[in-house]
Amino acid sequence: MFDTQSVIGVIGAGTMGAGIAQVAAKAGHQVLLFDAAEGAAERGRDGVAKGLQKLVARGKMQAEEVDALVGRITPITSLQEMASAALVIEAIVERLDVKQSVFGQLEEICSDSTVLATNTSSISVTAIGSTLKRPQNLVGMHFFNPAPIMKLVEVISGLDTDPNVADAIYALSASWGKKPVHAKSTPGFIVNRVARPFYAEGFRISQEGGADNATIDAVIREAGGFRMGPFELTDLIGHDVNYAVTSSVFAAYYNDQRFLPSLIQLELVNAGHFGRKSGKGFYDYSEGAEKPQPQTAEPADKPASVTFEGDLGVAEPLAALFEDAGVEVIRTEGDGRIRVGDATLMLTNGQFSTARASESGHRNLIQFDLALDYTAATRIALAPADQAEDSAIRQTIGLFQAAGKAVSIIDDVPGMIVMRTLAMLANEGFDAVNQQVCNAEAVDIAMQGGVNYPRGPISWASEVGLGRILNVLRNLGASYGEDRYRPSPLLLRKVAGGRKA
Ligand code: NAI
Repeated sequence: MFDTQSVIGVIGAGTMGAGIAQVAAKAGHQVLLFDAAEGAAERGRDGVAKGLQKLVARGKMQAEEVDALVGRITPITSLQEMASAALVIEAIVERLDVKQSVFGQLEEICSDSTVLATNTSSISVTAIGSTLKRPQNLVGMHFFNPAPIMKLVEVISGLDTDPNVADAIYALSASWGKKPVHAKSTPGFIVNRVARPFYAEGFRISQEGGADNATIDAVIREAGGFRMGPFELTDLIGHDVNYAVTSSVFAAYYNDQRFLPSLIQLELVNAGHFGRKSGKGFYDYSEGAEKPQPQTAEPADKPASVTFEGDLGVAEPLAALFEDAGVEVIRTEGDGRIRVGDATLMLTNGQFSTARASESGHRNLIQFDLALDYTAATRIALAPADQAEDSAIRQTIGLFQAAGKAVSIIDDVPGMIVMRTLAMLANEGFDAVNQQVCNAEAVDIAMQGGVNYPRGPISWASEVGLGRILNVLRNLGASYGEDRYRPSPLLLRKVAGGRKA
């Protein structure tokens, strides 16, 4: 449907529109850029030029390349000039009535075959199309900020979108070097839905005093492999924006507890503590303010030996790490535990350590958290049972420190930090697939390409073991008694069938 000769129109020359114009011009298209505010289209183009000149200064782009790219972006002052566009992408204010009005005008100006695309992140594509003469030509083309850098494009089909139009936008996005995924028009689409627990579970752990914010962030980064933890990331996004997205997804799913907004975030919004942009959020960004450090255990003695009882599954690489650290690893039969001195270590199963200790009879039980990669992780979280003795905790700290890990002792919260976050992300991903929003591959591509997750939650959960993930969710549900942790029917079915994902 499109080739590099196709003229691309972009409406709205703000953060997203200017970035989208840059992406299309880089791919060789002539781009018409329109904005309702006087001079904004020129400013948008000039902003693109300025950003690219920085790349020239760093030797990453040639000056001629930049001139040619910017030369392909033409600011226009009237919508009428969009007549020649084969595709018009809208990135204006997030309001249904305004978007409907702009697309209504475009239908009169452009040809019958012109594809109209919206970059909306929260409005139903079906609803935008409902007032159009040719709703089959309207599709969601959801870029992520910054558009020239983030790989993901969610291609959103409304009820009336022609599948050929969605396929053409998918192919065009791929030809622009993007990673497109198909999704149905549903609240939050893929990323803004599946990502909700990344923030919410961190907030809940903090609210319950499971660990301080800097420790949760550090564990998510250094053990979970994410680029940022939930507190530093939402400080960057802005709490007004992040809270509004959560609230809109919550309302759109008829108050499903899975999407329940956080009171600690609401209080930040109430206070005007929006994050970096206001100088204060979870952290203080004012000059001279000290960045809080994660809680890290003091050095403890290295144990001489450790016993692996049975197969540790995803945590098996720990055996080699301990051995390399000069700790003798003894192997015996068992159901997947590590013994060091008086302590019994188990990968968290979503229960309180305190409950698991009394059920299993292992008084000195200490659960450890999941890591994306136990070998590469630089930090590990440990949650001792209330009944565990200090000496057992010290022995465990010494063991992980010998393997080069910083150790954070957290309070006894079910599912700990990384495991609980992954279980909830994967569960939401499975539920999106179950509800026919997209396929499993799309979930993983979307979370990696749209929000930089280190691994797609569905494939990561499969590696951890879907049975284990289901068990974590069930134990979280039993611990909290909340519908929030109910497993997706698709996860139940996969586990019942013994399937990976
Ligand atoms: P922005 O505020 O930076 O830019 C919007 C631009 O649209 C402004 O320059 C404004 O003058 C112009 N505009 C407003 N009404 C107009 C109209 N009727 N006709 C022509 N121009 C008009 O906003 P931003 O952040 O670029 O967002 C634009 C759209 O992209 C929204 O729908 C938003 O939900 C969506 N989006 C935003 C993302 C983000 O991270 N900022 C990410 C993905 C989607």
